[in-house]
Amino acid sequence: SASVRYEAENAAISRGAVESDHAGYTGTGFVNYDNVVGSSVEFQVTAATSGPHGLVLRFANGTTADRPMSVAVNGVTVTRSFPGTGAWTAWASVTVRAMLDAGVNMVRATALTADGGPNLDALTVDDGAQTTDWSR
Ligand code: GCU
Repeated sequence: SASVRYEAENAAISRGAVESDHAGYTGTGFVNYDNVVGSSVEFQVTAATSGPHGLVLRFANGTTADRPMSVAVNGVTVTRSFPGTGAWTAWASVTVRAMLDAGVNMVRATALTADGGPNLDALTVDDGAQTTDWSR
């Protein structure tokens, strides 16, 4: 089913920097979260239909320590692990299934530890038509 990609480098960044020194990103770069609790990236996501959507965060973590983040969707928060991916050039995905409103939605990924978040490449949001395989 259809999906839309929102680049982290185009989102609202609080305590982070847009960088491009590790290959494999989409768009023009990625966000390097400052290594502090509370650094965040906020996306404005437009959905055509209300209801459950799959939100996929593409990230890299070149360390061996998890960099957990809270993911808030219109103020409803879940926590996800962003474990080591083996290298800063090795990109992986974490999925959140969340209810979106028709129209604009706020999706914010906030670092929960002093290491900050992982490097964040993009958020991809599906059209809500997907009915199976939420595991990807
Ligand atoms: C390195 C790496 C950055 C990364 C940072 C970190 O400096 O080059 O891309 O963001 O480590 O640990 O957060």
